[in-house]
Amino acid sequence: MKNILITGALGQIGSELITFLGKRYGKEKVIASDIKSMPEGMINQIGIFEYIDCLDAQEIYSVIKKYRIDTIFHLAAVLSSAGEKNPQLAWKVNINGLYNVLEIAREYKCAVFTPSSIAAFGPSTPKDNTPQETIQRPNTIYGLTKVTGELLCDYYYSKYGVDTRGVRFPGIISYAALPGGGTTDYAVEIFYDALKYKKYTCFLDKNTSLDMMYMPDGLKAAVNLMEADPSRLKHRNAYNVTAESFNPGQLSGEIKKYIPDFEMNYDVDPMRQAIADSWPNRLDDTAAREDWGWFPDYDLKAMTKDMIEKLKVKLQVSV
Ligand code: SER
Repeated sequence: MKNILITGALGQIGSELITFLGKRYGKEKVIASDIKSMPEGMINQIGIFEYIDCLDAQEIYSVIKKYRIDTIFHLAAVLSSAGEKNPQLAWKVNINGLYNVLEIAREYKCAVFTPSSIAAFGPSTPKDNTPQETIQRPNTIYGLTKVTGELLCDYYYSKYGVDTRGVRFPGIISYAALPGGGTTDYAVEIFYDALKYKKYTCFLDKNTSLDMMYMPDGLKAAVNLMEADPSRLKHRNAYNVTAESFNPGQLSGEIKKYIPDFEMNYDVDPMRQAIADSWPNRLDDTAAREDWGWFPDYDLKAMTKDMIEKLKVKLQVSV
């Protein structure tokens, strides 16, 4: 990785990946791009910023050429809940955007990281210890684009030798930027509301278990996979990774240890509940552990402690 392009860099993962990669490879080597304009507050954090709409191949081409990019972290995507509200847009952004990136990577010999998701599984997938290779028949448009994306990336690797790699991310929890349009977003919103109002109304049922991961582990997974020895990668697109699996009831219990009068209510949103019910309870990430040494640093306890500490400072509240 010499010159790196991040697409969707102002999103939840991108906005932290910029700093993470900047520290590791040099700020001037990381080109952040998005269809949104860069917020004033991020000027110090971002070395170079370029406007890119991934649906416009020319815009990607010109940035790849200008900065001699050799590695692309392609994060621009429409997530699960937003996708159900506008399936046509989700397909267009997630598939046509990825296709443009892969075509350019083929021509300019770039390595490509593309996140897949727990959404690449569906109701007929084994729910517990979901294997690396198993049934993938998702019933959300987001899930469909993720399975298609996995296959497309594998195709570009086997047909053209493009160095494509990916992980199936669980819900990502972080305090820097908010997630947008996902089903696992409750696990971030809950911290903000707990600290600000001491109560939260959850849109998923108390017992809905899902895989989750704290942002530092998510960044580590993406970068470690891209740095891994390619000869050890038995799979490419995409590796199961997980750090913790919990339900809203368990997360609320953990938060109560820090905010004893925190009150959790439930007002289940049928659409997001149906999406969550179609996803696994917990992935088996043995392949990632064996092939490239994946291991998470944060479980539910450690993540909650750190989230509360960091958000207290960010929101300037004391509990
Ligand atoms: N966090 C994503 C979502 O909820 C899953 O990949 O859509």
